Amino acid sequence: MERTPAAVMTFHGADWLERPTREEEERPDDVIREMGLKEGDVAVDMGCGTGYFARRMAKAVGATGKVYGVDIQPEMLDYLREFCKKEGLTNVEPVLGGEVDPKLPPNSIDWMILVDVYHEFQQPAPMLAKMREALKPGGRIALIEYRMLGDTAKHIKTEHRMSVKQVLAEWNPAGFELVDLIEFLPAQHFFIFQKRPDRGESGGKS
Ligand SMILES: C[S@@+](CC[C@H](N)C(=O)[O-])C[C@H]1O[C@@H](n2cnc3c(N)ncnc32)[C@H](O)[C@@H]1O
Repeated sequence: MERTPAAVMTFHGADWLERPTREEEERPDDVIREMGLKEGDVAVDMGCGTGYFARRMAKAVGATGKVYGVDIQPEMLDYLREFCKKEGLTNVEPVLGGEVDPKLPPNSIDWMILVDVYHEFQQPAPMLAKMREALKPGGRIALIEYRMLGDTAKHIKTEHRMSVKQVLAEWNPAGFELVDLIEFLPAQHFFIFQKRPDRGESGGKS
């Protein structure tokens, strides 16, 4: 791997994840709309922090759906629980993941999102393998990372940004194919990946 993973953002900075300017900067509702989550979908917010995206996804998948909020910091999951309680959300399940294992049931996930998280994985390869295992055939992943190239994300430290080339160099060999690269966000790339079927496996979206 030709980059050094960034340090994990600690829970002491949780307020920053809920900053009021974030709606304008990261357009979370537009991201969720673009994903096209359906009622009843099983979704994951990987590296969920306070659940800024998980809570929005929970509304999109409705009472018949479910969102796993995975994080390696129990304190972040406490914030997630608190926010869900305050907002009356009952379909979010906090999951304490490990550094190399998100602890998700295999073959069970329709959609996963990673926002400002992947560059923090200290061991991305085993995480990608476990995430792939958790997806249903045809399951998809939305990956959002600050742009490395150009000026749009120059306010962000270099190790917290990624180029398209860097992402594809790690995700393609891990068994994912790029379905779309969407560029409406002010400072971030928005990738959609699909699990590439193993030989003999059906790749159809269920
Ligand atoms: C910058 S925060 C982003 C939080 C959230 N995705 C958001 O956009 O509000 C990164 C989060 O990823 C989590 N994280 C880092 N490595 C992880 C891993 N291997 N598995 C699960 N979560 C991880 C951190 O604990 C932290 O809460």
